[in-house]
Amino acid sequence: MSSFEDVLAADRRIEPRDAVPDAYRSTMVRQIAQHAHSEIIGMQPEGYWITRAPSLRRKAILLAKVQDEAGHGLYLYSAAETLGVDRDDLTERLIDGRQKYSSIFNYPTLSYADVGVIGWLVDGAAICNQVPLCRSSYGPYARAMIRICKEESFHQRQGYELLLTMMGGTAAQRAQVQDAVDRWWWPSLMMFGPPDADSPNTARSMAWRIKRHTNDELRQRFVDMTVPQAERLGVTLPDPELRWNPGRGRHDFGTPDWDELKRVISGGGPCNAERIERRRRAHEDGAWVREAALAHAARRQEGETG
Ligand SMILES: [Fe+2]
Ligand SMILES: [Fe+2]
Repeated sequence: MSSFEDVLAADRRIEPRDAVPDAYRSTMVRQIAQHAHSEIIGMQPEGYWITRAPSLRRKAILLAKVQDEAGHGLYLYSAAETLGVDRDDLTERLIDGRQKYSSIFNYPTLSYADVGVIGWLVDGAAICNQVPLCRSSYGPYARAMIRICKEESFHQRQGYELLLTMMGGTAAQRAQVQDAVDRWWWPSLMMFGPPDADSPNTARSMAWRIKRHTNDELRQRFVDMTVPQAERLGVTLPDPELRWNPGRGRHDFGTPDWDELKRVISGGGPCNAERIERRRRAHEDGAWVREAALAHAARRQEGETG
């Protein structure tokens, strides 16, 4: 049997029964749980628009997308459970604020253009973050991420397609798209986390091959990918410092408001309280389903053994 270090050095995957340092296990649990919570909480800002979709086609697309996010949450809670934690316990930790979820889902969705912009920018940023995680050192997480990334790429395209349609519509629709881009651009850049200089755990996560790139590298990749898409769409990204730098062969861009990120992560965003309250109610409303499933499983087992 090879040791933890050998597996990492050979760039192979760590599996559930392998012996790992406690800090690796707790880092992995924290990261996977935070990711799972983000998928589930992330259903709320868009879920609001399902009953308000402008056409049957848009409703079917949005419904499929939001259901995908529920599925992502379930794969990830299952991956977390292979590390010896319990999903109910993780949900409790989310609801009482001991575990976090992505800052992005604490912003409100004000018009249907927000659905498009979330698909384009938020799912786009998620793809940049998650594609390298398909090679993350923890096997169950890496494998979950492969399927998740395929679905995220559908999410990004449906968002972009919606925006292209709106940009070909009326002046009022184009203004709605631009307004949504103005509101979501900076929070999307914050999805990659604090700047590298202020991200003390990055080095260890990279040594453990949980992460493959730093926050700033991924943020840069996202900006470079998104600028030509914005041009094609005909929207302006709200950053006066954004320009191509031929020397670097990349775009230069302005600095996100890191105080805002800290505030939103620690509960002070526009929708934090509402998101958690909604999640708490949904968890309570679902208690009878969990109880019935457990009673059913217990009775079946009795039938088999007795
Ligand atoms: Fe997702
Ligand atoms: Fe998504």
